[in-house]
Amino acid sequence: MKNPDYKRYLELVEMHMVDILPDVDPKSLTLYESMKYSLVAGGKRLRPCLLMGACEFAGGELQAALPYACAIEYVHTYSLIHDDLPCMDDDEYRRGKLTNHMVFGDDIATLAGDGLLSTAFESMTKDLFLYFDNETQLKRRIRAIYEIAKGCGCQGMLAGQTADVENEGKQGSTEMLDYIHLNKTAAMIVAAVRAGAHIGGADDKMLQDLTDYAEDLGLAFQIVDDILDVVGNEEELGKKTGVDSVLGKMTYPAIYGLDASYARVKELTEHALEVMSPYYDNAEFFNDLVVELADRTK
Ligand code: IPE
Ligand code: IPE
Ligand code: MG
Ligand code: MG
Ligand code: MG
Repeated sequence: MKNPDYKRYLELVEMHMVDILPDVDPKSLTLYESMKYSLVAGGKRLRPCLLMGACEFAGGELQAALPYACAIEYVHTYSLIHDDLPCMDDDEYRRGKLTNHMVFGDDIATLAGDGLLSTAFESMTKDLFLYFDNETQLKRRIRAIYEIAKGCGCQGMLAGQTADVENEGKQGSTEMLDYIHLNKTAAMIVAAVRAGAHIGGADDKMLQDLTDYAEDLGLAFQIVDDILDVVGNEEELGKKTGVDSVLGKMTYPAIYGLDASYARVKELTEHALEVMSPYYDNAEFFNDLVVELADRTK
């Protein structure tokens, strides 16, 4: 990502990402190694950077957002490890490397995912201990944790992932397609933005605008991912392409065709820019991001 703020957030996130990995007993060292393997493999770090950006946009300090930014990347990385398992999408490559289960086996990969998820909530709740005597700050962080829990849970990512696997090979409706995409992907992107906004102390209007923006971005992001599965470059993506059609996944290109998928991304991008237009130059990070992510298909 070329935006200078994104680079600034990314640097901080990368620097602190492994800090919250738990100490483990040498007898369970494999757990630590498998968690770390997928975490440090790279990735765009979109969700943590969005969380940091939303916090700063709302007037908060980046240091305050950092533990939550790292935690949401842990949750996301867990979701990728489980998404790649043979019982899910059965993928061999992720972030330019063999998938976690290809290296550590299905059993350890499952546990590494669980480990990343539980560590995320352990580290966020540990951060709360620092704010027991500051009710305002404490409440902001509890709200952030709630957003992340909801985003990755049964009213969010898990709902979408369930519908995604259950609709493989089916002639799906367009409503079902949007349900899948809004839940499996947009929910975590919305959670990232809302969590950051809460920590930064956003008012209701800003929170709503950021939520609307993140819904557009999240849906566009998954449509782009679907398009790239058809037209993308495996080396650049760090994962195999062409897998969605083999599994009969319900995707935008499968249901609407490629041209209509590009058009929908454009429409969502324009709407996201419109939502942020009252903030003018202050929203440059968000504006650049939605445009750059759409341009990944070019
Ligand atoms: C991949 O997410 C899964 C989707 C929701 C499409 P990303 O494209 O953000 O993956 P990384 O984190 O950059 O590897
Ligand atoms: C995954 O969607 C969304 C997650 C919740 C991980 P995909 O299955 O399309 O993601 P990729 O293409 O494997 O990265
Ligand atoms: Mg999947
Ligand atoms: Mg997948
Ligand atoms: Mg995909």
